[in-house]
Amino acid sequence: MEAKKRIFSGIQPTGNLTLGNYIGALRNFSLLQDEYDCLYSIVDLHAITVRQNPAELRKACLRTLAIFLASGLDPEKNIIYFQSHVHQHAELSWILNCFTYMGELSRMTQFKDKSQKHADNINAGLFTYPVLMAADILLYQTDLVPIGADQKQHLELARNVADRFNKIYGDVFVVPEGYFPKVGARVMSLQEPTRKMSKSDPEDTYIAILDNPDIIRKKLRRAITDSESEVRFDPENKPGVSNLMSILSALSGKSMEAIQADFANTGYGAFKDAVADAVISALEPIQKRYAEISADKEYLQKVLTSGAERADAIARRTMRKVRKKVGLAPLEL
Ligand code: TYM
Repeated sequence: MEAKKRIFSGIQPTGNLTLGNYIGALRNFSLLQDEYDCLYSIVDLHAITVRQNPAELRKACLRTLAIFLASGLDPEKNIIYFQSHVHQHAELSWILNCFTYMGELSRMTQFKDKSQKHADNINAGLFTYPVLMAADILLYQTDLVPIGADQKQHLELARNVADRFNKIYGDVFVVPEGYFPKVGARVMSLQEPTRKMSKSDPEDTYIAILDNPDIIRKKLRRAITDSESEVRFDPENKPGVSNLMSILSALSGKSMEAIQADFANTGYGAFKDAVADAVISALEPIQKRYAEISADKEYLQKVLTSGAERADAIARRTMRKVRKKVGLAPLEL
């Protein structure tokens, strides 16, 4: 039997996971779980590149874990774990730092954005963040990385570093490919639809996966559109409406043309309500399961322990190879 291809992806446990995280990444995780051998990580080491409240961060990690499970990820089929529980991420990251150029890292748009946002804390971790992400992916010999469009540049860097390393030492790493959703790879802010929806922005700009139906409807009713009344997909001139159409299309499977036809004569009110209905019916089942799962600490503990053990077993194999290739002597001579 041919071995299944491997998937790795990660989500930062910061603040509230958003509809963007769901459509761009999380939803694909459970769609891929039968066909692939998958690892899904809560990337807590990435989260500390900006200052976090420790108690809040610990809570957010558990919340994210419960959301992963509530979204339908089966912990038997998938390896679900916290990044910091598998020390090889940090170890490989250091080694890959020595194969990554300053110039490459200074071109990363997320670094430029984040250093503007956190001008008082432009730390070295923020700069080498993409190297840790490359380590996450390469550690598991990953074939496919399901991500939103905003992570494309980081994935490209991981591919370049893998290639460079392979050219020097022979085929050590699988060079990964990205897996992007056809619609919704970049869900935009509800208030500033030319920017991506982000969990670090103000509350009214995003829908959280755990927002209740009333809040979801309210936020969508207040979403910025334009002064026309035509539901038409035109991201350049109608970014707000086009964003809502993408959300509806991603969740309902309907084409842009069908959506346009459905709302040809209705105006924005009915359209926004339909978007709200689609979002609520996608998120409500997750929220129900979340309430049960997050109360079951014993279950969460089991998932974490088993996830870390299984991830470690794979990571260890890659590290043995990498250490040998770069010339680090083993403990047993
Ligand atoms: P993070 O935590 O910002 O986002 C998690 C995932 O959600 C996607 N995403 C979006 N997709 C569509 N529209 C949006 N508005 C939107 N916002 C976020 C992201 O593209 C991502 O797939 N560096 C990563 C985490 C990471 C990782 C990895 C991912 C660390 N190591 C290895 C893949 C593989 C990040 O900050 O994602």
